[in-house]
Amino acid sequence: MLRTALACLLLAVPAAQAAADPAAAIEYRQSAYTVMVWNWAPLGAMVRGRTPWDQAEFTRRAQRVATLAPMLLEGFPPGSDKGADTDAKGEIWSNYADFSAKMQAFERESAALAQVAAGGDEAATRAQFGKTAETCKACHDAYKAD
Ligand code: HEC
Repeated sequence: MLRTALACLLLAVPAAQAAADPAAAIEYRQSAYTVMVWNWAPLGAMVRGRTPWDQAEFTRRAQRVATLAPMLLEGFPPGSDKGADTDAKGEIWSNYADFSAKMQAFERESAALAQVAAGGDEAATRAQFGKTAETCKACHDAYKAD
């Protein structure tokens, strides 16, 4: 009886809903952002002309960002507003539909960035970088402390 109830509970609660270990979730998402920004920063440097434009290098790194983007949302389970040092604002979980919509916008634009970059058009790649960066900022402005 108890085992059945437990099994039902496990089935009913999707993995993303449970913050069994908030500290691990916080470490997971911050690590994912660290890997992402490692690849994202060189794109910004090329766009700003601090390093020479290299379409192949841009494409390779944009593909990594696009691969990482869909891994982020699961790093924000309810209850992971605390448990370790975090800049995630509590509003994420009170406005979760909006937060996940902003994450989906980022996933969409970063996927488009990888695709446009692979197409080889520098001007289009630059424009799509800007659109993608706006989705980072839109979310940080609302949901990331400082
Ligand atoms: C849908 C929301 C959202 C989007 C989109 C988003 N971020 Fe963030 N980002 C956050 C939140 C929330 C945190 C704080 C995480 C924490 O401290 O637990 C964060 C943290 C970070 C960090 C710090 C990680 C650390 O080690 O503490 C970096 C760097 C970062 N984001 C870069 C980016 C970049 C670059 C993009 C776009 C290419 C991006 N983010 C897109 C919400 C977002």
